[in-house]
Amino acid sequence: MPDTLPEFFDVIVIGAGAAGLMCAATAGQRGRRVLVLDHANKVGKKILMSGGGRCNFTNLKVEPTHYLSANHHFCISALRRYTSADFIELVDRYALEYHEKTLGQLFCNHRAKDVLNILLAECELGGVQIETRCVVHQVSALSEQSADCQSADCSSARYRLHTARGVVYCESLVVATGGLSIPTLGSSGFGYDLARQFGLAVTDLQAALVPFVLNGEWLARVQALAGVALPVEVSCQKQSFREALLFTHKGLSGPAILQISSYWKPGEKVTIDLLPGESLVEQLQAWQKEGRKAELKTLLAQRLPKRLVQVWLDLPGLQTLASKPLAELSKVDIQILADAFHAWPCWPAGTEGYKTAEVTLGGVSTDAISSKTFEAKTQPGLFFIGEVLDVTGWLGGYNFQWAWASGWCAGQYV
Ligand code: FDA
Repeated sequence: MPDTLPEFFDVIVIGAGAAGLMCAATAGQRGRRVLVLDHANKVGKKILMSGGGRCNFTNLKVEPTHYLSANHHFCISALRRYTSADFIELVDRYALEYHEKTLGQLFCNHRAKDVLNILLAECELGGVQIETRCVVHQVSALSEQSADCQSADCSSARYRLHTARGVVYCESLVVATGGLSIPTLGSSGFGYDLARQFGLAVTDLQAALVPFVLNGEWLARVQALAGVALPVEVSCQKQSFREALLFTHKGLSGPAILQISSYWKPGEKVTIDLLPGESLVEQLQAWQKEGRKAELKTLLAQRLPKRLVQVWLDLPGLQTLASKPLAELSKVDIQILADAFHAWPCWPAGTEGYKTAEVTLGGVSTDAISSKTFEAKTQPGLFFIGEVLDVTGWLGGYNFQWAWASGWCAGQYV
């Protein structure tokens, strides 16, 4: 891109992440002249970091119910038009090696960079120009042809961008700047600011797919358990997830916690079943019938991590029960014990925030956006795709699938 000369592109995409690159490649391959701008020094940083470096790039089973949004219907059309099978077909064309890890989650066998390279190859096929380290200072909509644009195509220019490398014009402007999570990976609130600048609403924003922090007595307890992991069922707001929980030095993490964090609001309780699918009542009664003489903590350690049993039996209210011989436990005692393990009422003090969150819950209100084209209903030529929108996927490849689907769909219309 020349340093100072104004220049025209059919499409300018702000944000060279998952959604932006997919949109740019799609539009470029339709014959549109596309420029992608990113303020970061590298493209696709989140792709590179994702899935522990192996990128969980999609999921075999993608349903609208795997997404949170103020409008649950908004994502349906794009997810139907560009499915996980479509993305798998794309990566198969490049002979990407991948595997299903669990619950339909597809990961690269080697490195996340392989997925990024596919997107870059697709951009190259579409003749897409990508500029990194390019800050966009200002965006303005043109009411009529701008006199200062020298290019012959400028009659269709609708937006002018003042960037670190000069002024550029475009007919379609795509905002693909992602969410606020992990600022060191290039995240910014730029997309939200741009939406507001053009009168579009932005919903409340919250760090999501994020570990919980605990405080007070519970912090000390979880610190004693740091590193312990176990399968649990965690529930909040009528939503439940049965996956692994990990105790950390700050609180709780692991897939089950990350998933439920998207449904949790400050001050709310999360209920955790530490023995999902089992009945501790029946188990304790069975041990009583068998006349087991071992201490309760020894027996429970057959079903749960030993350190966890120790911490739980030390809880106020359980200490006396824990010291009783098994045969002396009454029905009520057994119920109290079972409730303590099956329905732990946990009140997180908060989350670790955007520093470690995988995504941002909320975003540009979908009310203002066409679910077919991703164009703002009141602002012709302005498009929003990917995580910047109020569409947030579960853990498990759903967020990338949203980025691919929304990017591809918008790429048909920009
Ligand atoms: P994305 O964040 O990918 O891209 C936005 C781009 O815009 C960035 O390149 C950024 O630099 C640029 N940008 C921002 N502000 C700008 C500005 N002002 N000017 C210019 N450029 C600007 N999902 C999943 O499905 N499977 C997984 O395995 C993982 N793993 C994972 C791990 C980690 C550590 C994180 C943080 C996140 C994940 N995710 C994930 C979530 C997934 O990475 C995320 O939802 C998508 O990358 C969103 O794609 P977008 O293109 O919308 O934004």
